[in-house]
Amino acid sequence: MDFNTLTNDIAIDFGTSNTRIYIKGRGLVLDEPSVIAFDTVSGETVAAGCEAYNMIGKTPASVSTVFPLSGGVISDCTLAEELLKELLRKACPKTVIKPRIIISVPSGATDVEKRALRDAAIIAGARVVYIMETPIAAAIGAKCDVMPARGLMIADIGGGCCDFAAISLGQVASFDTFKTAGNAFTEAVIAHMRDYHSLSIGYLTAERCKIEAGSVFPAEKSSSVVRGLSLKTGLPTEITVSSDELTDALLPVSTSICNALKAAVDNAPSELLGDIVEDGILLTGACASMRGMVKRLKTDTEMKLYLAPENEYAVIRGLAGAIESIDKISKDLYTVYHS
Ligand SMILES: Nc1ncnc2c1ncn2[C@@H]1O[C@H](COP(=O)(O)OP(=O)(O)OP(=O)(O)O)[C@@H](O)[C@H]1O
Ligand SMILES: [Mg+2]
Repeated sequence: MDFNTLTNDIAIDFGTSNTRIYIKGRGLVLDEPSVIAFDTVSGETVAAGCEAYNMIGKTPASVSTVFPLSGGVISDCTLAEELLKELLRKACPKTVIKPRIIISVPSGATDVEKRALRDAAIIAGARVVYIMETPIAAAIGAKCDVMPARGLMIADIGGGCCDFAAISLGQVASFDTFKTAGNAFTEAVIAHMRDYHSLSIGYLTAERCKIEAGSVFPAEKSSSVVRGLSLKTGLPTEITVSSDELTDALLPVSTSICNALKAAVDNAPSELLGDIVEDGILLTGACASMRGMVKRLKTDTEMKLYLAPENEYAVIRGLAGAIESIDKISKDLYTVYHS
């Protein structure tokens, strides 16, 4: 018998942009975009994850590509359930025992949003679902001890939301889930190319341009060649965009994120604030890798701020650590549901 097929503990970071799956005993087995492609007539799934991502903007009218999460939570239950099922099937095709699944949720998620996530995990095959707040998972994943009576501030900057939270005694003491993050930068690139260069570009091109040349701090220089359709001539056109130009285009989004983080620091309980000022803010999430992000946040907040090692994997690492020792860790760290 192949004992790999008997795995029964799974951790899932089901994010707005990316899904990461960890299986106990096997490690990180999947890291793919949270996209599903489906036939608009039959409703059947055509592709999920990387394959669906590569189809964005290139599908015939009968196929649609959708990110079923938005702002860190499920926005389309049916497609999110289908996506999770497909990605789990990819990650562990021959599971024979219904798994225990731990999954993260933004601190600001409502009960309805948490239930949608729990149901998706159950439909995907979970026998037990543990829900952990993203900042707690991020802190554990960055090897911080969340249990002491000491303030710890996390800023997880993802695709759909920024999860800012002050943690103490294993719980989130205050939070601000700000639903503007990496996707808003991508949309700003699309709007900038349309408004200033009369160039229509697709989502994938905007994502690439943002990562190649997008910067939220003026000192960080780079450039990107962008191809799209000229709205003046109707012909394919190529334009080189500089990071300086993009810094201006991204300014409203970067400013709103900085202001939200400042507000989250202000909202932290005053007894925790001293620790947070002393230790600084821990940055996680893939969008925290954006060129200039650390400098920009440091400058605006006037706080110490440091990027977690492999920041994009902090949440899945934390969830993985938690599921590895779920029977031993404090029950305050998660909520549990049985199917
Ligand atoms: N080097 C980079 N520069 C700029 N943006 C980046 C970079 N790497 C990743 N991103 C952006 O980070 C975002 C994805 O981050 P992450 O994978 O943490 O999000 P998520 O967990 O799926 O979303 P959420 O936590 O908001 O639900 C995307 O918008 C992506 O474009
Ligand atoms: Mg995330």
